Amino acid sequence: MKIIFATGNKGKLREAAEILGEGYELVTPADMGITEDIPETGDTLKENSIQKASYLYERLHVNCFADDTGLMVDALGGAPGVHSARYATDGHDFDANIVKLLSELEKVGANTPEQRTARFMNVVTLIIDGEMHFFEGVVEGHIALSRNGSKGFGYDPVFIPDAFPGQTMAELGEEVKNSISHRGMSLRAMATWLKENVGE
Ligand code: IMP
Repeated sequence: MKIIFATGNKGKLREAAEILGEGYELVTPADMGITEDIPETGDTLKENSIQKASYLYERLHVNCFADDTGLMVDALGGAPGVHSARYATDGHDFDANIVKLLSELEKVGANTPEQRTARFMNVVTLIIDGEMHFFEGVVEGHIALSRNGSKGFGYDPVFIPDAFPGQTMAELGEEVKNSISHRGMSLRAMATWLKENVGE
């Protein structure tokens, strides 16, 4: 099945291709000539996810999906949450976001795994034949004291999932990450729905 994934993030695209497997040909907005940043100005992950998928559907009228992720850190009252992409700067700066996150946790004196609990939440919006469908995923864990690992992207170097308490997402590698991740959970649910309802 050919479907557009509303992302310019190469890490996300690689993960989605691995999670969805051989039956899918993923196309990006750039492949379709859409090179501008797709707006994400909503107050919730779901609103952002809808906004990104709708932006593409309104322009191209083809089947597509978008995802939006937030990292919710309990000791910071749920921040960075829906603002995860632009936590430190206005420009998707992974490195600056991690620096700010570690410094905010230090400021509030959260130094143990129990004080640093967090989760990645993910909402996928699928638009198929003009109708919207939603799939959600979550992975529980905590924020490391310092960064470790070079795989993955975004906040992966500081997120330690409960399923692998000794390693950050960036140490686990893509296959293991996908098997437990927020995005893995929502995209597998989407694939199951497509198989049952579209037959692909
Ligand atoms: P968005 O879904 O692209 O808006 O992502 C929001 C923020 O979360 C960005 O800073 C991403 O880098 C980060 N992010 C999204 N997915 C992941 C992930 O799987 N691991 C780590 N960080 C992520």
